[in-house]
Amino acid sequence: MVTDIRDRGDIAGIVTDFYSRAFADDLLGHVFVDVAKLDLDRHLPIMCDFWETVIFKAGTYRRNALQLHFALHRLEPLTERHFTRWLTLWAATIDDRHAGPHAEYAKLQAGRIAGSMRRRLAGRPPSQSPVPVAGPTLRAHEDPPQG
Ligand code: HEM
Repeated sequence: MVTDIRDRGDIAGIVTDFYSRAFADDLLGHVFVDVAKLDLDRHLPIMCDFWETVIFKAGTYRRNALQLHFALHRLEPLTERHFTRWLTLWAATIDDRHAGPHAEYAKLQAGRIAGSMRRRLAGRPPSQSPVPVAGPTLRAHEDPPQG
């Protein structure tokens, strides 16, 4: 029987499944593998913190995801196509594994966050951004302007 998302264990299942799809994806795979060179062992627990905080208000995620995507956007411009694909994979992963209010909320919030990220990135084209000094991680004083 398909259940709703109940706990961190369910979230771990979702993010693991999502990243295996994203890494294999013809559009997103390049960004994760070649550009960000993402270390999944390190990244997956952070994503669990993030979604546990979004869905269950766990408060375990205290980092700045927007800054990392600004840094990524400077290395490889993230377009509408990337966001649409990301959301398609996210929704398909959740729908394949779960159904219920938390599942719907996880999709709704992903759409909202993606829209907000996309608008903020579009407001700062890569050519106008400072060049990163050491890889995709930004320093604290480089906070992007809010609003
Ligand atoms: C264009 C679509 C997207 C791409 C290609 C993308 C790619 C990435 C990559 C490569 C990282 C790792 C960055 C690093 O550690 O250096 C990352 C981190 C992350 N992404 Fe995305 N992302 C996208 C959209 C989203 C969306 C829509 C969300 C949320 C709904 C999201 C949430 C996160 C979070 C929470 C992190 C972890 C940040 C941290 O380490 O604190 N991403 N993303």
